[in-house]
Amino acid sequence: MTAVHDTAASTPAPTTSAADLLAERYGAAHAAELSGPEPGEVLRHQLAHRSVRAFRSEPVSEDAVTAIVAAAQSAPSSSNLQTWSVVVVRDREHKSRLATLAGDQEFIREAPVFLVWLVDFARLDQLAGQHGHGLDGADYVESAVQGFVDVGLAAQNGSLAAESLGLGTVFVGAIRNNPEQVADELGLPPRVVAAFGLAVGHPDPERPARIKPRLPQDAVAHPERYRSDTQLPAIGEYETTIGAFYESEGLAHSWKERVLARLGTVAGLKGRDRARESLRNLGFPLR
Ligand SMILES: Cc1cc2nc3c(=O)[nH]c(=O)nc-3n(C[C@H](O)[C@H](O)[C@H](O)COP(=O)(O)O)c2cc1C
Repeated sequence: MTAVHDTAASTPAPTTSAADLLAERYGAAHAAELSGPEPGEVLRHQLAHRSVRAFRSEPVSEDAVTAIVAAAQSAPSSSNLQTWSVVVVRDREHKSRLATLAGDQEFIREAPVFLVWLVDFARLDQLAGQHGHGLDGADYVESAVQGFVDVGLAAQNGSLAAESLGLGTVFVGAIRNNPEQVADELGLPPRVVAAFGLAVGHPDPERPARIKPRLPQDAVAHPERYRSDTQLPAIGEYETTIGAFYESEGLAHSWKERVLARLGTVAGLKGRDRARESLRNLGFPLR
């Protein structure tokens, strides 16, 4: 693997302080209440994350993809089962067909590489078959959960690696809008399902992405026991912080409205309410 770094828009400047990054992540008022160590390189990249949906046409090198996959494989894996795989899609037509299946999101076509991350029990099924075994444990909800957890950890490691190389990424859950057609398109055997995609490319500095604020920490981090009483006040404060972000991006709708549009009705699942049926069709009986 040769050195593959590109100084691009999403890479935090080495001088960026924790205070500046936290101010962008939480809004200045909340960030002022937080203290922490000055970030090293990894933490700076984590705090500087933003999804990138605008890419230059410049290709992503094979070496960069090798590094992303190596970082993904370096993530922890439940019982070291390594129940995931990734399909590296570069072909323009192939990418375009996948984009169509995944909500017709144009940035998938624009990104030079589209990685499709898979929960994969087919490899272990082959191993079991070779030894005259079944793979009965894989048929249970627990194994599916374990597979989705593992592939999520792996892909986020890969995404962070990409960001550290100056690349930009965005996850694509919409790849689950049409699971069976995606499986056909990728030639997936039974017991393999696409969990999400990851568009990867060089960020276009003409269309930069910004750090998106998150909920105040006291909504998500609970001392000793879960607290329900902090939730609605924290959401109220977040509406103000993220409202300013959305407004500056020219985006309508508040966070509350977005949450309710996404989860308030089944229609917000955009066809993914069939997930159990799709998983069963693809060899995950979910017992
Ligand atoms: C599993 C997963 C699926 C996602 N799917 C999509 C998607 O289909 N389209 C999209 O534009 N963004 C998608 N995103 C990106 C989120 O919208 C984004 O992470 C979130 O708004 C926070 O913004 P940030 O990543 O810039 O901080 C997805 C993110 C995750 C983690």
